[in-house]
Amino acid sequence: MSSPAPPPRERPIAVFDSGVGGLTVLQELLVELPHEDFLYLGDTARFPYGEHSAADLERFALEIAEHLLARRAKLLVVACNALSSAALPSLRARMLSTTLGVDVLGVIEPESRIAAAHSASRRIGLLATTATVASGAYDRALQAAAPDATLTSVACPGLAPMIQEGFPVDHRVVDAVRGYCAPLREAGVDTVILGCTHYPLVAPMLQRMLGPGVTLVSSGRALALSVASSLELAGLSSEASGEGDYRFLCTGDVEAFRAVGSRFLQLPIEQIEHVELRSAVAA
Ligand code: DGL
Repeated sequence: MSSPAPPPRERPIAVFDSGVGGLTVLQELLVELPHEDFLYLGDTARFPYGEHSAADLERFALEIAEHLLARRAKLLVVACNALSSAALPSLRARMLSTTLGVDVLGVIEPESRIAAAHSASRRIGLLATTATVASGAYDRALQAAAPDATLTSVACPGLAPMIQEGFPVDHRVVDAVRGYCAPLREAGVDTVILGCTHYPLVAPMLQRMLGPGVTLVSSGRALALSVASSLELAGLSSEASGEGDYRFLCTGDVEAFRAVGSRFLQLPIEQIEHVELRSAVAA
């Protein structure tokens, strides 16, 4: 006999990404919302997302969201910047219109608001994948949060896979990061948005190359505040005490996810399930 569905407040928050990078975001959510249960999906079979078209990314986002909805998530968090920039408005509209009415949060707006609040010079930089920069999503979000600020965006093709493969110290990564920082130094920015889930792993390197006076903004903490207030407003915050649990789904190899993922999460990774995503669009 199947067990009864948990009450809405006790259902998990689902977090998803192109692979293991979103674990840098999950880590912050686990710290900020310790009582909640989390379900993380990494689409490792299709990593990297950063060079895909907006149409591809919208399709991937929908396939993942449908899968997580079927697992009764109470909130969907798009940890991936490329997916957030291509698919958030349409995905949100679609998920809110389902019978469960599940909300979807992304990383672009929370990060842009924090950057706007930190920048004294009103010169802000962005490091992100090609897809994210091409979408113009950060330009729009920053225009809304700080109309007087200028944004210098630098696309960093190949950097996310390089960070993933090149651990602990790889000179290809050092050289690439130095090259991507150059236009930001020239623009004299005082705040830099890390517009990709992998970049917090090279934060010390970035800070050294950009200078100690530059504020680096990553999405995790900003997003955690949005998640907490969205749950509160919807009456969906967990009433459990103690630490919640967290589980993993991935579309690629489970052991590869475990090995690389624990470096990104910096917490133990136990339960991982392999999943196949069905095309929601073709259905
Ligand atoms: N999660 C992706 C992002 O934040 C990492 C890079 C990729 O998949 O290309 O954009």
